[in-house]
Amino acid sequence: MSDEGSTPVKNEKLERILASFSGERSELIPILQRVQEEFGYLPEEVMKRIADFTRTPECTVFGVATFYAQFRLTPTGKKIIRVCRGTACHVRGSAKVLAEVEKRLGIRAGETTPDLEYTLETVACIGACALAPTMTIGGKTYGKMTTKKVAEVLGDYDRSAK
Ligand code: FES
Repeated sequence: MSDEGSTPVKNEKLERILASFSGERSELIPILQRVQEEFGYLPEEVMKRIADFTRTPECTVFGVATFYAQFRLTPTGKKIIRVCRGTACHVRGSAKVLAEVEKRLGIRAGETTPDLEYTLETVACIGACALAPTMTIGGKTYGKMTTKKVAEVLGDYDRSAK
């Protein structure tokens, strides 16, 4: 049976989070942050429920979520790969490193693999310029990257062969 026009579905985890807020519109950003911490991103249904809870128009909630770069509207992979594109890394060949990671994962920067294993991002500098070019996987830093080293750190994960 269709549930068109119904109120947003209630999710136990979400309700637990909302219970720690009073429902003021001024709490919108802290609520979105808390929810993203829990869910990894902001699912559409969840944002509708947050709009309802804070008595804020849905378009305002979606507007806030899309305005701030910290918020994600799509799920992230289990591991986040960040390839540094800062100046020091750039002059030492980070474009090639990024291209190799994209080829192996079969996605572009900003995307997540369909199996939700990896999300690929670029960053401006991770503060390890002496090791340029750098990348991180799940928070672990890898320095002096080459296309060959990308193959090593990604191991068998190779979408380019499929
Ligand atoms: S520019 Fe890449 S670590 Fe600083």
